[in-house]
This record gives sequence, structure tokens and C-alpha cells, in this order.
Amino acid sequence: MKYVDTHCHINSYQYDEDRLAVLKEIEKKMDFVVNIGCDLESSKIGIDYSKEYSNIYATVGVHPTDIGDEFSDELYRNLLELGKDEKVVAIGEIGLDYHWMTKSKELQKYWFRKQMSLAKELNKSVVIHTREATADTLEILKEFPEVTGILHCYPGSYKSALEVIDNYYFGIGGVLTFKNSKKMVEVVKKLPLSRLVIETDSPYLTPEPFRGKRNIPEYVEYVVRKIAEIKEISQDEVLKVTTENAKKIYKISK
Ligand code: NI
Repeated sequence: MKYVDTHCHINSYQYDEDRLAVLKEIEKKMDFVVNIGCDLESSKIGIDYSKEYSNIYATVGVHPTDIGDEFSDELYRNLLELGKDEKVVAIGEIGLDYHWMTKSKELQKYWFRKQMSLAKELNKSVVIHTREATADTLEILKEFPEVTGILHCYPGSYKSALEVIDNYYFGIGGVLTFKNSKKMVEVVKKLPLSRLVIETDSPYLTPEPFRGKRNIPEYVEYVVRKIAEIKEISQDEVLKVTTENAKKIYKISK
């Protein structure tokens, strides 16, 4: 069985030297991957990849550290048009980042709510980025009970997860394999496999044993292995169930 990567950024400059080779490897080795947009440009590039490669899907959205001072009607219309594409499987990544705080909390919340409305209008899932902002993020997610999605690289507690577990899946990536990931191991142990999806966030957050190097989608294998170990089940089981989960939340029927 081939692997799925629900979250990667192949448009990153870190692939400038050998992007075509990386894309070809994805085409050959992966079941499917989702290239996640961070702004208008990377969203468009993701759609371009999805046209070229049948097993690459895209999301469109503006990341909380990439937002501008004003969310214009024109931007909304642009995102809406891009979002209608059949290979766009979600709006994202969107959310709140109180670690980098490139813009005020209020402005971040405004952009977040706008893009949640967009997902609602398009009837698409969302991919959520949240850093040091769990309470505010969950509050906004609950304002949109009809929207479902993935909390990517989930940093919160098991207790917080339960607040949105009916509508959300939890994206688990390379951080789980790090030596200091004790808290996350506990969360993964408690969360049901039926709510987990696998991701790399390539080129970032490379799992052990490659930590420190550039990440690539096929390294999801090491995350699957670690979840199997934590939950004391087979890697096949982890792969099978998390692949079904990813297809369900992204409405992929291949
Ligand atoms: Ni990301």
C-alpha cells in the first residue's frame, strides 16, 4: 500500500534545485499528497501541480503569518474562484499564530473568520494552523458548526481536542518522532485512530532519523511507524485507517 501526505509545501524555495525530481517521486511513490497554499501565489502554484499530476491535490488560503493589513473583496473573490477548482480539496492553511505575531490578534481573527466563511460558502473542508492560540482557535471553529477539517500539526491537549472532535481530524507529523514529544505521544495514544491523519509539512518538521534535513512526503512512513508503536497496532492498520480518514475529509474518491 502506498502512503498519503495530507500536508506539504512543494512550492517552497527549498525544492528550487530539484523540484521536478521531487514531484516525479511523489507521482511514483505516493498514493496522494495535498499541497497546502499559504498565500494567493502558492495556492495557484498548488493548483498547477494538481493539473500536472493526478495524485496531487491543492488547498487555497492565506496563512496567519502571511496575511496583509486588509482583507479586500477582491481577495475574497480571487480565493473563491480558485476554491471552486475540482482539485482544490480545502481552504487552508488558515488560523491563528500568536508565536510569530506578524499581525495583531484582532486582524488574524478577522482573516480567519473571513476564510472560514469562504469554506462554508464553497462547502469545502479547512486546514487549520494554530500556534500558541488553541483557545481562540477553537472558539472560532465552533462559530462555524457546518465546517469540518483538519487541525494540522495539532499542538493542543487531549481535552481541547475533545471540544471539536466531531468536526475535526488531527494532523500528525514528524514532531511525534522527536525525543521531547512526550506530550504529543500521550495525545496520540488517547485520540482514536479514526480521527488521525498523517502529514509531513514538508520541507519542515522532518521526522527522526532525518531530523535537521529537508523533509519530503515519503517520510510519512516514519510517522506511521511511530503511531503503530504508540498504539500497539500494525503499520498496515494505521495506514489503512488514516488513508480512509484523509479521503473522507478531503472528499477524494480515487
Ligand atoms: Ni504547513
